[in-house]
Formats: sequence, structure tokens, C-alpha cells
Amino acid sequence: MSAAAAAGSYDVANTTWGGVDGELARLEAQAALSFEEELRIMRDLGLTRAGPLLELGAGSGAVTRRLRAAEPGLDVIALDVDAGLLRHAGGCGAPLVAADGARLPLRTGSVGGVLLRYVLQHLTDPAPMLAEAMRVLRPGGTLVAVEVDSMLWGLADPMYPELASVHATMAQAQRGAGGDRQIGRKLTRLLRREGFTDVVLRPFAATNDTHPTAAFAPHLGPERLVPLVASGALSMGELALAADRWRRFLADPDAWVMLLGFAAAGTAPHGGPAPSVPETVPEKPARFWRNAQ
Ligand SMILES: C[S@@+](CC[C@H](N)C(=O)[O-])C[C@H]1O[C@@H](n2cnc3c(N)ncnc32)[C@H](O)[C@@H]1O
Repeated sequence: MSAAAAAGSYDVANTTWGGVDGELARLEAQAALSFEEELRIMRDLGLTRAGPLLELGAGSGAVTRRLRAAEPGLDVIALDVDAGLLRHAGGCGAPLVAADGARLPLRTGSVGGVLLRYVLQHLTDPAPMLAEAMRVLRPGGTLVAVEVDSMLWGLADPMYPELASVHATMAQAQRGAGGDRQIGRKLTRLLRREGFTDVVLRPFAATNDTHPTAAFAPHLGPERLVPLVASGALSMGELALAADRWRRFLADPDAWVMLLGFAAAGTAPHGGPAPSVPETVPEKPARFWRNAQ
């Protein structure tokens, strides 16, 4: 990590089985599963119309690459606090900026849109990042935050109630590290609190009607539980149980799954950010970002 960041629950090396390589594959699979649905919502909300679009917490660029391919005319800036992870986003035409999203090295009012995808759930306090996003947005610009809510993760048939405590442990572990997997229900209120207007919530779903069941492995498979066994939060027995149920689910030709995501959007009001928003980063006169690749 090259930029000093506020404490949060994202740990690239300990999110899933296989360390950083495993996480790179998970981020890619996660984007492949729902990007089309998310893109439809982003277009509908006008996020792709007025650039540049700041992808805040772009990670390895799984979405950056897809956005650039789907909207070649849209300037995208990929920003992340983890310079090592961000390096993987290179080569798709988006400038890479390594910085803390709560201290953006961008000029006030310099971007037309901000995308925060699966970032806010990792922050101890999302407010400073949202305030910075508001600051760098042009009046009338759009912010979209894509998130989950662990109590509304979706539906599966068959269900395995015996895994409820395993999922609760996962949410608890993220909470213990400063994150919040129940952020879905708070999104619109967070945006309104920061002064965004026209706040809306657009749920979206991915099902195995249109994706192979195996594509849901990053969400439903046991790999994500491995770091929890390593940290002692879960037992080997619980991991084995989860692996067994995932195997059964995969082998069942009639099994059905739907995962839910939530895209919340808000508009930066005309008249600029609220006076209480601090100007945390000195402005650069000529360019709108400090290139820190
Ligand atoms: C779960 S990953 C999501 C990555 C990407 N948005 C995607 O959907 O593939 C969360 C990302 O948020 C980044 N992040 C966490 N805290 C941050 C901060 N304070 N400033 C900038 N990025 C941050 C992490 O480094 C990580 O890349």
C-alpha cells in the first residue's frame, strides 16, 4: 500500500483462498457476474454520460477494464489506496492514481461522475470518502455506490440453514475489522447525509438462469472462508460443512440462486459542496490529478 489510508476491513491478501492471486481471480469473477446489470443501471443514471468518471477504490481494475470496453469515449480515472493492486488495472487507458479516497489529489469540481463499488463496506467511516467524492464532483455530477447487504444477500433453493452461523461469522469478522456488510440498507441515508440530492436506490440481481452455477463460486463457495479458518474465527469442521454444501449445490441440476446487489445514486447539488466539507487536499493548478502510478 503506497498511500496512507484510513483503517478499513479490506485485506487483499486475506480475503479469500490463494492470497493476492486468489483475490485477483475473485474480483474478476465478481465483476463478470454482475457488470452487465450494473452497467445498465449506471447508464440509466447518467453516470457514463459526463466524464471524467472517477472510479474510487478501483482495485485491480476488473470494472475499469469493462467500463473502458463498454464506453470507449468515457474518460475513467482509476484510483485506489493500494498501488500494488491498482497496477493490475494498467493498460486499459485509464490513468492510475494511488491515493486514499478520503484525501483525493483532485481539484474541486473536476469530475463528472464517481463510482464506488464494494468500497464503502470496508470503511470504518464512509463519510470522509463521500465528502471528498462530493468535493471533486462538478455540480450536477453523479455518484453511484454499489454495495451488498449481508441480510439481503439473495435467495437459494435449496437453502442450507446449517450455514447461517458461518455467514454470520463472516459478517462479524468484517465488522470486527472496521467494515460493515450490512451497508446496503444505509446507502441512501449516507448519501443524503453528505448532501447528495435526487438519491435513489436500484437493486440488481444475478441468477443462474443466465450464468452457470459455478460462476457464483466467489460468493457461495468455501474459498472466502479459508482466511477465517486461518484467523481462528471458523473451525475446520465449519469449512468442511460449507464446502460440502457448495458441492451439493453445484451438483444439483435444479439448484437456483439469485444474488442481490444495491446501487445507490445521488447528485452533487448546484452551489457546490456544503461549507462544512473540508478542502483536505491542496489543488493542482494545471491538471486534475496527481499521477502516482
Ligand atoms: C473489494 S475491493 C473492490 C475493488 C473494485 N471496486 C471492484 O469492484 O473490483 C475494495 C477496494 O477498495 C479499496 N480501498 C479501501 N479503502 C480505500 C481508501 N481509503 N481509499 C481508496 N481505496 C480504498 C481497496 O484497496 C480495494 O481495492
